[in-house]
Amino acid sequence: MREVRKTFGGTVALSGVDFDLNPGEVHAIIGENGAGKSTLMKILCGVYPMDGGSILVEGEPVRIQLPKDALALGINMIHQEFANFSKLSVAENVFVGRLPRKAGFPLALDSRDLLLRTAEVLGRLRLPIDPGARLDSLSVAQQQLVEVAKALSANLRILIMDEATSSLNLRESEQLFATIEALKVEGISVVYISHRLKEVMDIADRITVLRDGANVGTFPRGHIEEAAIIEAMLGRRLRAAVKKAATRGPTVFSVTGLSIPGKVRNLSFELHRGEILGITGLSGSGKELAIRGLYGLWPSRIERMECNGEQVSISHPSDGLSLGITYLAEERKNMSVFPQLTIRENASVLWMRSVWRRFVVSRRREREASLQSLRRVNVKMAGAESPVDSLSGGNQQKMLLARLLMVQPEIVILNDPTRGVDVGSKQEIYQIIYQLAREGVSIIMTSSEIPEVTALADRVIVMSKGHKIAELSDAEVTTDNVLALVTQAAAADEHG
Ligand SMILES: Nc1ncnc2c1ncn2[C@@H]1O[C@H](COP(=O)(O)OP(=O)(O)O)[C@@H](O)[C@H]1O
Ligand SMILES: [Mg+2]
Repeated sequence: MREVRKTFGGTVALSGVDFDLNPGEVHAIIGENGAGKSTLMKILCGVYPMDGGSILVEGEPVRIQLPKDALALGINMIHQEFANFSKLSVAENVFVGRLPRKAGFPLALDSRDLLLRTAEVLGRLRLPIDPGARLDSLSVAQQQLVEVAKALSANLRILIMDEATSSLNLRESEQLFATIEALKVEGISVVYISHRLKEVMDIADRITVLRDGANVGTFPRGHIEEAAIIEAMLGRRLRAAVKKAATRGPTVFSVTGLSIPGKVRNLSFELHRGEILGITGLSGSGKELAIRGLYGLWPSRIERMECNGEQVSISHPSDGLSLGITYLAEERKNMSVFPQLTIRENASVLWMRSVWRRFVVSRRREREASLQSLRRVNVKMAGAESPVDSLSGGNQQKMLLARLLMVQPEIVILNDPTRGVDVGSKQEIYQIIYQLAREGVSIIMTSSEIPEVTALADRVIVMSKGHKIAELSDAEVTTDNVLALVTQAAAADEHG
């Protein structure tokens, strides 16, 4: 693919992307949400037309305008929701539309031939699946493998798998990898899109990193480290926002001896005014539970907690709110957004709770405060009275930040603040976080993405298996340092 360009309305999804595939290679494409991976492959499959660029097969320019053009060239994609016939057999699904007929009897299905031919395809993929079994008697993972067999049974040169393992368990993923190996042996090229970096490092011959609709590099296996890939995915744009040298403000909040049985052991830390404190670690390190525990969202024991020099306790989020501490939950859909309310009403819920005891709430004041807060975080909306569902994921997340800011908190706790938002909104959210810190708000944050924490935080607590294993500050705060620490801790664990 050469110089492939695609825009959707105002969004540039691909800005001149080159992408090559060798015969019999597994080529992984990785990148953050919204990087353009699916769009690039949908263009190759004839699902979307491209705005510019070209596609060449064996050096010859080809026109792919519809899915059937791609299929004719042997380019096929495994979809997450497959179009199959659950009540029919595996064999009938593999050969759907191309069922073998008995010689001389065009309406009579040759079921013996069908079963034999299906067994042959399944054998090539080394799949232990009965061709006669009804499709709905198989697991979802097996059904997905039947899709691969279906693709292979027609002429197949390139197979595309977009997030194919996202719903598979470890055993099922391994079966899929074995199937991919079998495809390679036949000289078929596989494009493999996944957000599981470890898995990509294992199976791909080459890895292409997309960022913001551009190819930022294609790397052969073994020539790039995981940390470098993460860096490529995120880019240096975060670093560019140069961390201001920490003239550390006074301590505004401290926690001594936070424990959650089996999850977090004796965690202590201090938070300074205007500081971004990151808590990071691999999944299972206890980082998320720790901050939920500290806000009364998970049962925890805390020896001592101080806010502005006074001993306090938070056993419920409303205690936090009255101390001027607000919290952004990690799960937008189930925990924070009220779908039956408008954007304005959603933004006001905390503010209403914080003022209702003291004032008779004026509707006008509520509107003004809400609009001001929504504007501050740049929520893109038709109007504040629209239903909250009309906002994109990224704008819903900004609306939630507006909700936290409306109460003018001194401390903000952010649990995975950019989960599931597009790249553009991510950047805006980072800017909002920086701006808050500059205004003197103190921030505690964690994220499922380590580079996000290291990019934003002035100081980082590194956790592993419930323990704080290190505290890094200023120039020490890098993804490489964090990864080195957590891998050392994991290795020490295995040997000790
Ligand atoms: N059908 C579409 N309509 C409008 N915008 C789209 C559509 N598909 C993708 N986009 C936008 O194009 C960009 C790239 O999306 P996508 O290719 O799905 O990324 P990825 O698969 O890497 O997560 C995103 O900003 C996304 O919002
Ligand atoms: Mg995608």
